[in-house]
Amino acid sequence: MLSKKLQDALNEHIKNEFYSAYVYLSMAAHLAAAHLPGCARWMRAQSQEEMSHAMKLFDFVLERGGRVVLKAIEQPPGQFKSPLEVFQQALKHEQKVTGMIHRLYELAVKENDYATQVMLQWFITEQVEEEGAASEVVEQLKLIGKEPTALLMLDRQLGARGGDS
Ligand SMILES: [Fe+2]
Ligand SMILES: [Fe+2]
Repeated sequence: MLSKKLQDALNEHIKNEFYSAYVYLSMAAHLAAAHLPGCARWMRAQSQEEMSHAMKLFDFVLERGGRVVLKAIEQPPGQFKSPLEVFQQALKHEQKVTGMIHRLYELAVKENDYATQVMLQWFITEQVEEEGAASEVVEQLKLIGKEPTALLMLDRQLGARGGDS
């Protein structure tokens, strides 16, 4: 059985993962409007991934006999100055989420909840991947600078990610 404290923290994090999905969906809309369909597709796939993270926690709380409480999701940012700023914000957001996952893990240790610790290990590994992917795009966009041809090439490359990841 989940402790009340841990159940509350997991419910809070279900909302955080849905908020991440919202942030990336907003970024996808911005990138599509900026005529970067590949970048937009990458962000949309990212958004779908965040929804699957939320559902993973949702299912875990239910499986443990807990009560899922869905919280209100804040409005995501909608204005960005450049594709570089979009991906820099995405990276910053992932770093923030990594901190949240680590605090959840610390709580699971404190509550002696081993099953939650094991479940959260998946998220810890996933965060390393997500920070790495966002930071890779940030660095590539920095290399590109104001070179439109290179930006269009990167856009094509990012568009190959598809919606399945
Ligand atoms: Fe996530
Ligand atoms: Fe993420």
